[in-house]
This record gives sequence, structure tokens and C-alpha cells, in this order.
Amino acid sequence: MKAAKVVNGMNRVNRMKIAVVGGDGIGKEVVPAALQVLDVLSLDIEKVPVEVGYGKWKRTGRAITEDDFDLFRSCDCIFFGAITTPPDPDYKSVLVQIRREFDLYANIRPVKGMGGGKNINFTIVRENTEGMYSGVEQVFPDAVHSTRVITRKGSERIAEYACLLASGDRGGSGGWGGDRRKHLKRLTIVHKANILQSCRLFREVCIGVADRRGIPWEDMLVDATAHRLVLDPERFELIVTTNLFGDILSDMAAALIGGLGLCASANIGENYALFEPVHGSAPDIAGKGLANPIAAILSLAMMLKWCGRAEESDAVHDAVSRVTAAGIVTPDFGGRCSTMEVAEAVAAAIEER
Ligand code: NAD
Ligand code: IPM
Ligand code: MN
Repeated sequence: MKAAKVVNGMNRVNRMKIAVVGGDGIGKEVVPAALQVLDVLSLDIEKVPVEVGYGKWKRTGRAITEDDFDLFRSCDCIFFGAITTPPDPDYKSVLVQIRREFDLYANIRPVKGMGGGKNINFTIVRENTEGMYSGVEQVFPDAVHSTRVITRKGSERIAEYACLLASGDRGGSGGWGGDRRKHLKRLTIVHKANILQSCRLFREVCIGVADRRGIPWEDMLVDATAHRLVLDPERFELIVTTNLFGDILSDMAAALIGGLGLCASANIGENYALFEPVHGSAPDIAGKGLANPIAAILSLAMMLKWCGRAEESDAVHDAVSRVTAAGIVTPDFGGRCSTMEVAEAVAAAIEER
């Protein structure tokens, strides 16, 4: 890891060295497309390709090796496409292993509508290292116990991160998403504390942190949140929640704004980060040039922001807005363009500026 301590990101990395993982399926298409956009920014960036994932596992029996981790450690951060994770007991999710190894505890998922219609603009802050992803499981012949681990420390730090975003220290709740909201009205703490003791701890800790930080909050059960997200998404600004709830709600939220092809994410730790689209390897459309590259391009914009390149990050957002407004979009978003055509249009829009 070369970068200085980057609590919550946004420090300036002068010569960036990024590990690039295409991965599997459409990851291999959206990553090269996004890199075309990066290239026109003429930044001093060294790209280190790293092959990990299901394809590698099938070929070599290992999805990720210690050498791959060493390569990651030699870089400032990771730009990641997607990796297939089969429901095979012998296969361990590469992404979960990376999140754990680098303690990438905050998963930031901005959800911002593009074009007309509803004014949807909120961010999901998902705890990224514990909960149902603890890895603590006991397998018996006729039962499996998966342990949901929620700790005070894990809940405190994710609540602190959410409050930082809420207070505008990182550009406001929309700061990661390319625009700024001046005053946050409300942080929504999402849980299932009516049933789960673990959620009682999460809720209590989040409320304590929000009170201490002077952030207005409400709390909401996760099932009710799913319902209200569909009925009235405009009411939400910033959601903080546990790992699996955040996973599920973020795919649902993507559907509110036009699909997974539009949603970016940042996995943030104390001094390392990984940037990736929210979507997976999409085997149903892989290899056909149909994948929407916007989620990957906006993930790149999040990476630039984390590296202290806010101007370039804004330029990418601006270009994406212009290109989508011009109807240069892939079929999932109602268009006829290919993955590369969209990326080339975004690159050209940056150059025009
Ligand atoms: P998925 O996100 O890959 O696809 C869900 C649906 O959304 C599919 O119909 C797909 O065609 C569509 N879609 C996704 N991204 C799109 C894009 N950029 N443009 C247009 N359409 C897009 O979810 P899945 O099918 O449930 O999972 C496939 C594999 O990916 C699984 O093995 C899963 O474990 C893995 N996965 C990986 C990641 C990751 O690496 N970050 C994330 C989620 C799922
Ligand atoms: C995501 C994905 C991952 C998750 C999988 C692939 C491990 O669905 O990033 O949303 O469950 O966190
Ligand atoms: Mn997911």
C-alpha cells in the first residue's frame, strides 16, 4: 500500500498506481470500456492488471493467490469489474476475501436518477465486513448455522462514516455521487431490531453516534424500508445499514433508477479502497457488447474522488450526464448502443470540455 493514511478517502495521490481486475463475464467488458474514459483524462496512472476470479479458479484451481494479494498491496487501490461466485462449497468469494483482507468496512452506493422523472438521490452506506458475511458457519448433515456477527466497533465505525457524509465533510450526502447537497435532513438507520438482538446493538450504536455528531436521524425496519423505497424513494437521503440488508436494498434501489447498469460503489477502508459496479458478472448478457458501462465509469469517478482528483471526477459525471441525456445508452436503459460506443461517447464528451 503506497497511499498515506486515507481516513475516508479524498487525499491526493500524486502518481496513482491502480490494480485493475476485469474478472468474469461482463466485468471483462465494462472495465476496458471504463479505462478508455480514464485514458482521456491524461493522469499519471500506472495500471497493474491482476487476474483473479472464477475463470482463474476453473483454469488453475485457485481464484486468488498470495501473489495477487501482494500485487494489490503494491497499488493504491483496486478498480474491479465483477466476478462470478458459484454456489459451490469449495469456492470462496474473491470479493469478500479482498474486503476482509483490506478491512474495507464502508461500502458506499450512491443511487441517483438520471434524466427526467422522479428526483431520486440517496446514498446507501453498507457495513461491509461483518453481519451475515462473517464467514462463521457450522455445517451439519441436515442443518447449516450461519452466524450473523454485529459488533459495537463495526457498528460505530460505519455509523461514524455515515455521519461524516451526512455532515458534509466529504461533500455532503451526494458527495460521492457527483453533486452536493448542502443540508442533510435525515439519516435513515435501517435494521430488524424487532427480531434480531444483533440489530438492536446496531441500531443503538448508530443512534448514539448520530446524536453525538448532531445528525438528525430516523430508524426504520428493513422490510418497511423496502416498501417505502418503492413507494416514495425521493424521501430518502442517506441510509446506513448492515451488510446483507445493504446488499439487497442496493440492487432494489438500482431498479428504481433504471437498473444495475447505472450503479457504482466504493469499498473504503482506513488506507485502501476498491471501486466496482454494484452489478455482477451478468452471464445472461456477457460477451455480446450489451453491458452498460455507466456503473463502471461512475465507479471510476468515485476512485478519482478518493484519490483527491475531484475535478476529474466531476468531469466524468458531467460527461456521463451529457451522454445519457443525448440517448447514447445501452439496451437495458432503452437504447441501442454497445458497451464501447457508450464509453467512447463519454470519453469524447470529456475531451470536448
Ligand atoms: P448480476 O448483477 O450479474 O445481473 C442481474 C441482472 O442485471 C441480469 O439480468 C443482468 O443482465 C443485468 N445487468 C447487470 N449488470 C448489467 C449491466 N452493466 N448492463 C446491463 N444489464 C446488467 O447478478 P446475477 O445474475 O445474480 O449474478 C451473476 C454472477 O455475478 C453471480 O455469480 C454472482 O455471485 C456474481 N456477482 C458478483 C458481483 C461482484 O463481483 N461485484 C456482484 C453481484 C453478483
Ligand atoms: C455485491 C455482491 C457481493 C456481495 C458478492 C458478489 C460477494 O453481490 O457487491 O453487492 O454480496 O456483497
Ligand atoms: Mn450485491
